[in-house]
Amino acid sequence: MALFIAGNTPRTPHREIAEALKDPGFGRWFTDDMARADWSPEQGWHGFVLAPTGAIPMHPGLAALHYGQEIFEGLKAYRHPDSSVWLFRPGMNAARFARSATRMAMPPLPEEVFIDSVVELVAHNLAWVPEPTGGASMYLRPFMFGSETLIGVRAANAYTYIVLGMPVMPFYPDPLRLWITPNYSRSMAGGTGEAKCGGNYATALIAENQAHDMGCQQVLWLDSATRSLVEEGGTMNFFAVTADGELLTPALNGQILAGVTRDSLLALAPHHDLTPVERELTLDELLDGIASGRITETFACGTAAVISPVVGLRSPDVEITVGDGTPGATTRALREHLTGIQFGTRDDIFHWMHRVG
Ligand code: COI
Repeated sequence: MALFIAGNTPRTPHREIAEALKDPGFGRWFTDDMARADWSPEQGWHGFVLAPTGAIPMHPGLAALHYGQEIFEGLKAYRHPDSSVWLFRPGMNAARFARSATRMAMPPLPEEVFIDSVVELVAHNLAWVPEPTGGASMYLRPFMFGSETLIGVRAANAYTYIVLGMPVMPFYPDPLRLWITPNYSRSMAGGTGEAKCGGNYATALIAENQAHDMGCQQVLWLDSATRSLVEEGGTMNFFAVTADGELLTPALNGQILAGVTRDSLLALAPHHDLTPVERELTLDELLDGIASGRITETFACGTAAVISPVVGLRSPDVEITVGDGTPGATTRALREHLTGIQFGTRDDIFHWMHRVG
């Protein structure tokens, strides 16, 4: 039985939804309902509702506003050719959300509650799931924050969990050039790099601005200790394709986000005659490999981004084009395969899809 039960949320007329779905952008429109639950030491998780998406009253002393106790997730619902609607690997997001909560001294949300919240939100807002034209889908943004009024520093004693739903297009419409920042770091040993917490994105913004100033769209993050190892792309995991058939990505080291798309591409690799390899990748090996032709393609991936070809890298010392500067054949084939499974036009060989409506 569903935990999250819909109330009397007013429904947006179908013709208005149809208008919004013509050009959904990313985060411009929201579903009629959002899911919500709260946590207190006495009651644990309680108050599971689908309520109208809208403002939430908060005291300016809210813990999350002062000390950043906030985590989030991103997953998508896809419309298939027969009009049915499916989530992609929601269990992976549920498990990562619980790990992020533990790292941030927050109460983990039981994985079955996470899955129920996204399933019920999508099921009650099916009209907002777009047709797949151009890669459109519904993005789900579950998040949790310390909601106690708290100025003294400690883990909060009250938390709110909310899921927002929104029709979206892929986040990066064009191939990317990544900026190798000389002076900022995203994560460190013992830090929060593998947690999906808002703070990781806040600290990255200054380097993203630097990237834009340098004619790039995102950052390629290096390890903070030696600045010699590739970790991940901003908002995405990073991959290289080698001339001898490896699909190479930096191994998870506690400082890299364990991406669901990353994991899925490693599983698909053998179906494209690629050997999945997770190991340390030095910046020197990456740049030398691109220059010599040993690395033929690079791309970055994530739920929002899907698979974005990386066609160039730039640092204060180096500017290099990958291959011929256009998206490579392997990148395109992996993208076609993954999105084919998500949109129901390719066999779901790993049973990743979870039907909602
Ligand atoms: C996601 O891919 O789900 C993210 O959280 C990245 C963000 C750029 C939307």
